[in-house]
Amino acid sequence: MKIFFNPTPSSVRASSQSEIDEAFQFHKSLPGYRPAPLISLDNVAKALGVRQLFIKDEGKRFGLKAFKSLGASYAVYRILKDRSGGSLRPEEFLTERGLSLAGDATFCCATDGNHGRAVAWIAKLLERPAVVFMPQGTVTARIEAIESEGAKVIVVKGGYDEAVKSAAEREKEKNVVVVADVGYPGYLKIPRYIQEGYLTIFQETSNQLKKRGEEAPDILFIQSGVGALAAAAALFFPDAEKGPALVSVEPTGSACLLHSAEMSDDNPHSVESGGQTIMAGLNCETPSLTAWPPIRDRFNAFISIDDTFAVEAMRLLAREGIVSGESGAAGLAALLAIQRERPDLMGKYLFIKSDSRILLINTESDTDPEGYERIVAKCSAEV
Ligand SMILES: Cc1ncc(COP(=O)(O)O)c(C=O)c1O
Repeated sequence: MKIFFNPTPSSVRASSQSEIDEAFQFHKSLPGYRPAPLISLDNVAKALGVRQLFIKDEGKRFGLKAFKSLGASYAVYRILKDRSGGSLRPEEFLTERGLSLAGDATFCCATDGNHGRAVAWIAKLLERPAVVFMPQGTVTARIEAIESEGAKVIVVKGGYDEAVKSAAEREKEKNVVVVADVGYPGYLKIPRYIQEGYLTIFQETSNQLKKRGEEAPDILFIQSGVGALAAAAALFFPDAEKGPALVSVEPTGSACLLHSAEMSDDNPHSVESGGQTIMAGLNCETPSLTAWPPIRDRFNAFISIDDTFAVEAMRLLAREGIVSGESGAAGLAALLAIQRERPDLMGKYLFIKSDSRILLINTESDTDPEGYERIVAKCSAEV
């Protein structure tokens, strides 16, 4: 486990309340919308020696097993709204008007699983085709989940960056609309829409806490791939003084945000991914160009962890009745890693305090059901 503290965390420009409200309104208008549950993990909090531990469980979001549907759907809505000259309203998205604005579009993206399934799902709702590029070595279950939404899957020779390049190439073709969650030179607008779509997670959480009369969390752990979700956290909680403290978590072999923070030259930097992590959703080599600036400025700490902690966290969450996949469990995995390997950071006056109120996000459930069974069934045998 490695941790790098930002020496000068600073405030960033916030998303406006109207941006937050528009995303939330849009999601509420989609079929099958329900707020993702916010669960208090009292036993785990006690074992870790912190006051409160909440987990926002995104594992059942729109029946797609991951939070990614929030970003992809909102981005496609904003693309159609742009086509309408700004007049399309959320509730018109899946009506004749939305479908006719989608026209002859083929939606296209790169994914390591969850974003691709989300794009395929939204394309299906709009009665349009989707083409999804995936990295070499992707497990069959993730390919099949995307195909089950009616999309065509193409596996590239290479990692996530290669898949992103292949999707970007397709933009040259007539009617192809690339819905990438990663910003790169010349392609910044849609990744920003995706980041805005994730604001709904934090708006819902804030409503749920308020309703229960709970205080806001003071530390938030966010697992990161290209950083779009982390950027949304920074935009929702822009004030570095007010908090919460924001902590990014990545797998050891593909910790591109941690690496960029350590380089301390303001720029995003790629890592050469070994591709050897079970946290497939986090296995990204290059930070998103739209996500990096708010993360760089606002995040307090960057952590990388080994897979063993993800396994342990998945089992622990299973015992609490929460189905959490390899990437979904990464926030808790980071807390376990700190407890085990950096206990000097935990204590009354330290980074993780005995009165800390921590928020985690279970970003996926069993998106690789066989892998999940292998990991969690073994735990039942051990108990
Ligand atoms: C389950 C899961 N969690 C977290 C992430 C990280 O999101 P981002 O790439 O926006 O950093 C991903 C990305 O694919 C994911 O699939």
